[in-house]
Parts: sequence; structure tokens; C-alpha cells
Amino acid sequence: MQSSAPLIASGNIQARDEEFSVDLQTIETESAAAAHQIVTEYLLERCNVFKELSEIRRRVCASVTDLSFGLQDNVLMCGHPIQGWENPEGDEYWEKRRHTADNPSPRTQQIFFEMTKRIGAEMQGSTKAFTLQLPASTNPGILDMGSAPGGFLTAAMKANPRSDVVALTLPPSSGGYEILAPEHLRLSVKLVDVTMMAADLGVLDIPAEHPDALQFHPKQLKDGQKFGLVICGGSTVRNHKVATYRQGRESCRLIMAQVVLGLERLVPGGTMILLLHKPEAWPTVKILYTFSKFASVKLFKPKSAHGARSSFYMVATNIQIQQEGAMIALAKWKKIWHECTFGTEEQYREAFREDQLDVHQVLAEFGPELIRMSKRVWSIQKSNLSKAPFIRGTQGRQALK
Ligand SMILES: C[S@@+](CC[C@H](N)C(=O)[O-])C[C@H]1O[C@@H](n2cnc3c(N)ncnc32)[C@H](O)[C@@H]1O
Repeated sequence: MQSSAPLIASGNIQARDEEFSVDLQTIETESAAAAHQIVTEYLLERCNVFKELSEIRRRVCASVTDLSFGLQDNVLMCGHPIQGWENPEGDEYWEKRRHTADNPSPRTQQIFFEMTKRIGAEMQGSTKAFTLQLPASTNPGILDMGSAPGGFLTAAMKANPRSDVVALTLPPSSGGYEILAPEHLRLSVKLVDVTMMAADLGVLDIPAEHPDALQFHPKQLKDGQKFGLVICGGSTVRNHKVATYRQGRESCRLIMAQVVLGLERLVPGGTMILLLHKPEAWPTVKILYTFSKFASVKLFKPKSAHGARSSFYMVATNIQIQQEGAMIALAKWKKIWHECTFGTEEQYREAFREDQLDVHQVLAEFGPELIRMSKRVWSIQKSNLSKAPFIRGTQGRQALK
């Protein structure tokens, strides 16, 4: 138990969409930083589009508090320190974007909902990810985490008109988004923080002295309830106030909680959609490599939205959850969630040390496949970044207007 954790931090979580990797990179060992460097060099030598993207990233001078490009893009991905935003129009631009994201009007929320529906439709068109790949007679359900406003669950319900959907999403009273998808008999929405679903994650005895002792949820999913499609679309939101011990760990806790809850409830042969960032970041490479051992993995990045960001979706189909590799990965990821939530600083670090893989072996085995599956993601980001307002020069300044 972390002894010094105060109850609630005064500030909010910095909702950078890069934060998952930041969490991991910050706490991971020096060997993880070295692994990251090795992956970068490997890709620079072998993949032109990655090299071009890296060049463009070097020209990015986003503000440090930028909504969509946090510290990490400059420090970790470009490999050199942050450049200051030299254009006052830039600060104004990002300030407006942050303000809009944190205080969404009904109209902004509707626009965001339409955008997530468009992303869902595009993903379905290009990957068929939402169509259950299992015999219709089994009629397995769908689990959607981080569901609001509901674009993906709309796509999933359309693709599987007979399946029930369980949607788990952060309550708006805790800073989460509102569900805007219409109510439906097949849709059950539970307003929960998935990182706090201790009972569903196998922890029934919460230490009384834990700073969040009263915040953990009782069981949310029915015993034996299984799903054919699991969507892990949650990402941290700035308005979610959390206890200090969670800061810097929250994106990691969220991704681990979703993956563990999802894999434990997935039927063999099922599909998982997982929101990730930067296919080249070592923590992301480890996840893709691990899934590729027991599933068929594709990456999808929409063209219709978030093009300049590093976010993308892993679509893993035919997941052989009963395979030994899947069981081992599940146990490791569960331990990371557990130690991020209940462990001391040392236990938390130890969980990551146990999750280290040999980067040379991973690249020898998986490097060409990583390049093949990631090229389109990098290419979309490259072409959008080159037009982005935070690129120096006239083109960018024009784009700010
Ligand atoms: C990018 S949005 C997801 C959009 C959604 N997939 C859709 O199709 O409309 C991220 C979601 O994660 C939710 N979220 C953030 N932290 C969460 C947590 N700890 N537990 C559950 N949901 C969370 C946010 O409230 C938000 O609804």
C-alpha cells in the first residue's frame, strides 16, 4: 500500500492522448528507454514513411500543454527537448481547444458523437471489426468500455442486430462524457470507472487504509457473462479528478483494466478493438507483439478524424484466449493494473520490470511485420501533421486562422 498517498490531488489529470506511453516510459527502467531508442533506429533505417514522419515531428513546435501533443511527442518521439511555441496565435489556438474540450456545449457533444460515429463507420468499412466473427447461433454479446458518447456502440449494434451490448463508461459526474447514443432494449449502460472495477478484476478485499477504499465498484458483470467483441476505447479525460497515487499511472491503469476485463470475458475466437498511440513506442510494440502471438492483428487509423494525432486502433481478431501466451500476458497485465492500484512504488516498478522483453529478439521476429502493419498509420499522421497549425512557417500560420 502506498502510505503517503493523499486523498485527492488538487489538479486534474493532464488528458494527453499520448499519456499511456508517457506513464510507462516515465516509470519504466533505463533498459526500456534504451529499447525505445533501438526501435526508433531500426525503423529509421528501414521505413521511409517513418523517417519522413520523424522529420515532420522535428518541425513540430507544439505548446507543452497542448491538448493532443503532449510532452512525449517532442521528447520521446523526436528525441530532443521541447521547443517553445513561438507564435502567440498558437497559445490562443490550443487554449480555445482545451476550453472547448473541457466545457462541451450540447452542440459540441453532438459534434463529437457524430465524429465517433464516422470513425466507427470508417473502421467497419475498412476492417469489419464490429461484425462478430463467430457462429450466429452462439450470439455472444458485446462489451464496450469508455463508450461515451457512443459512436462505436452504434456501429457495433448496427453490425450485430441480435447482440446485447454492455457499455461501461465514466460517469459524467466524475468528468466522463455523456452517452448520446439512443436508449435501446439491447443496450445496458453502466456508469463506472473501469479502473476501479476491483471485484471484476479479482480483488475482493480492499485494504481499509487504501486512499480510494470506498471508491471501488462491486461486481458489474454477470458471472459467466462472455463477449464476442470487446471494445477498449477509453482514454483519460482531463476533468476526471483522481487521488494522487493515480497521477502519472492513470492511462496505464485504464488500458490494463480494459484489456484484462476484456480478455477474461472474451470467447475463444473473439475480437478486441483497442485504442493505442504510436505503433513505434516500445510499450505499444510490446502490446502489438504480444497480441500477434495469439491473434490476428491489424491496425486502423481513421482518415476522417484525429489524423494529426498518433492515436490508432489495434483490431485483434480470432483471439485464442486459451493459448498459453494469452494466459501469461493476461496475468502480467493484471499484475500491472494491480500494482498500479495497490502497490508500493517499488512493487509498481517491479511489475514493469517483469514485463520487459528482449528488444532485439522482438525486432528480429516482429520488426518487418510491425513496419508492414504501421505504415498506413504513420502515413496518415505524416500527411495531416504536415498541414497542422503547429508546424512552423506560413502554411501552419494560415491554418490557424
Ligand atoms: C475517446 S472517448 C471514447 C469514444 C467512444 N469510443 C465512442 O465511440 O463514442 C473516451 C471515453 O473514455 C471514457 N473514460 C475515461 N476514463 C474512463 C474510466 N476510468 N472508466 C471508464 N470510462 C472512461 C471517457 O469518459 C470517454 O467517454
